Amino acid sequence: MNDKRRACLFIQPCKGQTERDREKDVNDRQLENSSANAPLILDVVAFGLSIVGLCFVEFSRLFFIPTTIKEMSSTTTTTTTNIKRDDTRLSNQIRPIESEQALLNKADGSAKFSQGKSSVLAAVYGPIDVKTARKEKISKSVVDVSFTPATGNTTYFDKEREMLVRNAVESIILTLLHPRTQINVIVQVYSNDGSIISCAINACCLALLDAGIELNCLISSITLSFTHDNQIYLDPTQKEENNSKGLAVYAINSKSEIVMTKTTGIIGESLYFQGLNIAKQSCEKVSAYTRLAVRNRIMGDQTQPSTTTTNTNNTLVEESKDKEMKDSS
Ligand SMILES: *[C@@H]1O[C@H](CO)[C@@H](O)[C@H](O)[C@H]1NC(C)=O
Ligand SMILES: *[C@@H]1O[C@H](CO)[C@@H](O)[C@H](O)[C@H]1NC(C)=O
Ligand SMILES: *[C@@H]1O[C@H](CO)[C@@H](O)[C@H](O)[C@H]1NC(C)=O
Repeated sequence: MNDKRRACLFIQPCKGQTERDREKDVNDRQLENSSANAPLILDVVAFGLSIVGLCFVEFSRLFFIPTTIKEMSSTTTTTTTNIKRDDTRLSNQIRPIESEQALLNKADGSAKFSQGKSSVLAAVYGPIDVKTARKEKISKSVVDVSFTPATGNTTYFDKEREMLVRNAVESIILTLLHPRTQINVIVQVYSNDGSIISCAINACCLALLDAGIELNCLISSITLSFTHDNQIYLDPTQKEENNSKGLAVYAINSKSEIVMTKTTGIIGESLYFQGLNIAKQSCEKVSAYTRLAVRNRIMGDQTQPSTTTTNTNNTLVEESKDKEMKDSS
């Protein structure tokens, strides 16, 4: 009976509608009419708020030029049920992302990329002359990546990470443009709290953009951990990685081609492909972040008074003013 009544509200016209129901309907409509002049006030308030918001955005552009954008709580709604994790994230949430570009003076480009407590600095030097002739390639430039852990000597695992990062990064660089040269990418881990390969690849992409190296497309990477009760956790911390039964690292470029994947542990085929879908969506979000970070940096430079272009323009303006003064006198 109750269900029938509820259905009536949605499907019009309704035969089973009683007199009282119709009265209620009319009353409801009158209520709607009486509040008809409210939207005008709301509009005015909303307009005011949007202006305040715009001003704030402009101000933040002026003052926070090293892009530190804290956001990125991806809302990828997939088949995974939303179980709270230790750090109160949902299973499909990325940790807050932060980045900073051009930190190093001597490098051609550099970027620091943090996902939660995992933080990596990447520096790009090049294209430069090849130091060891043995490495030189006649038709293209050589991409050399070195991966340095936060503490201790480089181990076998770091060499493996280095190789994975190199493979991922080389795929997006247009190496044919600079034959017989070398592009060095230095990856220094500040702190490792899981998903470090992904964090390193994301840092490299931003650093390459900062260095102005010609790229095919962008690349972004995400790590997934598979728990023993078949949950998929996005962007796991070190603890979650330790407690998982399997890990998968995906690097996907902005044409949504899979550039690199690496799995450890035992993961079923269906889980792997389920993970791949989640990774594709998340990588798009990371790429969007990278674009935003670069755009903000470029916009920031325009408003900065100390950049070379504005300086020359200022001097030009001053000179012309001087001329005018002389002419008038
Ligand atoms: C790290 O490398 C240095 C030099 O190769 C060596 O002397 C040192 O014992 C190494 N440390 C560890 C913890 O292996
Ligand atoms: C994870 O495991 C590694 C060794 O496998 C250990 O050194 C590290 O302390 C562990 N981290 C956490 C947070 O459990
Ligand atoms: C600065 O000068 C360049 C050329 O000298 C010109 O194209 C540009 O529009 C100028 N910018 C401003 C803000 O005046």
